[in-house]
Amino acid sequence: MSQSLAKKTAAAFVEKFGYEPTGVWSAPGRVNLIGEHTDYNEGFVFPLAINRRTYTAFGKRSDGVFRVATSFSDQTHQVLLSEISAGQNYDWAAYPFGMAWAVIQKAKAAGLEVDLSAGFDCFIDSDVPVGAGLSSSAAIECAVGVAINELWNLNLDDRTLAQAGQLGENEIVGAPTGIMDQSASMLGQLDHAVFLDCRTLETQAIELGFAAAGLELLIIDTRVAHRLVDGGYAERRAACERGAELLGASSLRDVSEADLTRAREIMDDVTFRRVRHVVTENQRVLDTIKTLREKGPAAIGRLMYQSHQSMRDDFEISIDELDTAVETALAHGAIGARMTGGGFGGAAIALTPIEKISEVTLAVLAEFENLGYATPNIFSVSAADGAAREQLI
Ligand code: GLA
Repeated sequence: MSQSLAKKTAAAFVEKFGYEPTGVWSAPGRVNLIGEHTDYNEGFVFPLAINRRTYTAFGKRSDGVFRVATSFSDQTHQVLLSEISAGQNYDWAAYPFGMAWAVIQKAKAAGLEVDLSAGFDCFIDSDVPVGAGLSSSAAIECAVGVAINELWNLNLDDRTLAQAGQLGENEIVGAPTGIMDQSASMLGQLDHAVFLDCRTLETQAIELGFAAAGLELLIIDTRVAHRLVDGGYAERRAACERGAELLGASSLRDVSEADLTRAREIMDDVTFRRVRHVVTENQRVLDTIKTLREKGPAAIGRLMYQSHQSMRDDFEISIDELDTAVETALAHGAIGARMTGGGFGGAAIALTPIEKISEVTLAVLAEFENLGYATPNIFSVSAADGAAREQLI
């Protein structure tokens, strides 16, 4: 399937631009197993890259223009590489343009020469669902990043490219997101999740062993689109910063569960609950990794559900559709379930014994129909490798 989408992207490039691309690069979407809204608090996250990818076919130009086209919009956009800047309306092209701009910044910071008179044509295709909280945007950024890095011979490492993705998204797209999504998309590994310390940016690939334990990771995409540029995400981030400041900490990473008693006394209830989510969620990431190592994946379900409850009640980023997906999946055999990603829509995950997959799927579909919700998109994912050049055969 991936080979065919890679080839389809190359063929679409030829049709659009009239010449053969130099190559095709790809990067995966991600789901976060646990560790939500902890990344911008310098905390811990534990996402995995998934077997849904974005493909970019690239060809070189010699006039400094970056031109992008895609299968999911009729609009082709172009810009002079030297003129990409914040505050413009680039539409969907803000993701590839933002990444190009950020790679230029990272290269300059590393003292590298970037030849801005060389430009690119780029065609993008993807099977990462958009708006589902599966980081379709990070997948675009990373697939563009690895391509440009190679075509400009920059040799920036994966971690720097992940940082570039975040920089482009913060500055050019205008979404104040953390480093998790791009790190997962760059550093993912087959059958592993990425344990990332968002303060030191140290990472460790940790084997999941889902298949060996007879488990599958089910995605329940509610089809309620979530948007990180809307106010909710930024508002949560601001509350975390306010809470840390009131506690005299540089970030919530430095706040422990023992500090929560004092936190409750010195701040308003809403800020306190935002703080409690982040502090307890950091601990749940560490507990999940310990449990996974000592007892295997079938034992992490309780932590996943506690994470969901914390996001529902303390961080208040869940919605009825996500709660319904989680409760129904658990009632029909999933061993753990939670909403994943930024919240306010998007997807839930349900770690489910293989023999219960169809029961859970049918039960969630039936419950959504009962409640008059849109039909959810339900499918399994597995942990995949990070961004790379495609070998077309
Ligand atoms: C979005 C952001 C990430 C992270 C998650 C919440 O996916 O892009 O940086 O903050 O939300 O964990």
